Amino acid sequence: SPSDPDLVERARAAKEKLGDKVFVLGHHYQRDEVIQFADVTGDSFKLARDAAAKPEAEYIVFCGVHFMAESADILTGDEQKVVLPDLAAGCSMADMATAEQVAECWDVLTEAGIAEQVVPVSYMNSSADIKAFTGKHGGTICTSSNAERALNWAFEQGEKVLFLPDQHLGRNTAVRDMGMSLDDCVVYNPHKPNGGLTVEELRAAKMILWRGHCSVHGRFSLDSVNDVRERIPGVNVLVHPECKHEVVAAADYVGSTEYIINTLEAAPAGSKWAIGTELNLVRRLANRFADQGKEIVFLDKTVCFCSTMNRIDLPHLVWTLESLAEGNLVNQIQVDKETESFAKLALERMLALP
Ligand code: 13P
Ligand code: SF4
Repeated sequence: SPSDPDLVERARAAKEKLGDKVFVLGHHYQRDEVIQFADVTGDSFKLARDAAAKPEAEYIVFCGVHFMAESADILTGDEQKVVLPDLAAGCSMADMATAEQVAECWDVLTEAGIAEQVVPVSYMNSSADIKAFTGKHGGTICTSSNAERALNWAFEQGEKVLFLPDQHLGRNTAVRDMGMSLDDCVVYNPHKPNGGLTVEELRAAKMILWRGHCSVHGRFSLDSVNDVRERIPGVNVLVHPECKHEVVAAADYVGSTEYIINTLEAAPAGSKWAIGTELNLVRRLANRFADQGKEIVFLDKTVCFCSTMNRIDLPHLVWTLESLAEGNLVNQIQVDKETESFAKLALERMLALP
């Protein structure tokens, strides 16, 4: 079983043997059995910022998904090797924007005569290729904790933003946080000719949103919010900005995983919370704050884990740490030099945001 005491002991022993040679990063959506071995936990911004925090570590074991490990590789030197315990831990949202599709989109914008006015802003949840495209075209990366600052910066550089690949984070930030209207936004569908948009629509738009989404957060609906408000009078609804616009508009609080944790830490005893994000995190928070009299429930009635985050389990972590401890470099994530240089430009613009 995953919480097998023997596996826990093996992970502990291998990590101890590696000592300062290993630095384990864990995203908040990771399983409890894995997160207990993380040296640093965080949202995707914090993990990108801290990836290079331990330069003496030869190995960075990234307990998270592929795009996070790529970003850590981009932001660290060649001497540090980034390892993803299961190479199949991808992100379905990141897969919704390929390099070919985005290049084609840029051609569409060029033909419409607007490419010069457009600044790309790409969510961290994207491949290194998309980050490189972003850097090459003068844009920045953002995460759910700095999307508003990234968009403000982008609108200082140009008149329009191409937001990749999460339409919801783009729309929610523009409309909820920055006061734009829904009519300022259009959705570019990579599966349709010209993105399914007319030249007039493209010219009129301020925000061109890529048609991508997170299937985990897509499960929450306005009904989930209305139901929980009926079930639990006085409940505070706190959701991640990857949720659909109508869910975010109906919520009381919206923010990244780190923001969700900080908000619950600061919440008074006796308060009630319904959380719209991945279930490993919600369960962990419900357990952690139960004895402080904070009632924390999952926003939906169904169960929703991120299946790719969950691929990193204790057996994969044990295998990874034991292999490294024996001197076998396994599952290295390495971005090629050309992609890395442009992607780094975009990531560094994010890290330099005011
Ligand atoms: P955070 O940056 O809020 O941790 O989000 C990462 C993610 O993948 C959410 O689905
Ligand atoms: Fe990707 Fe959604 Fe999983 Fe986050 S929760 S890693 S956006 S599929």
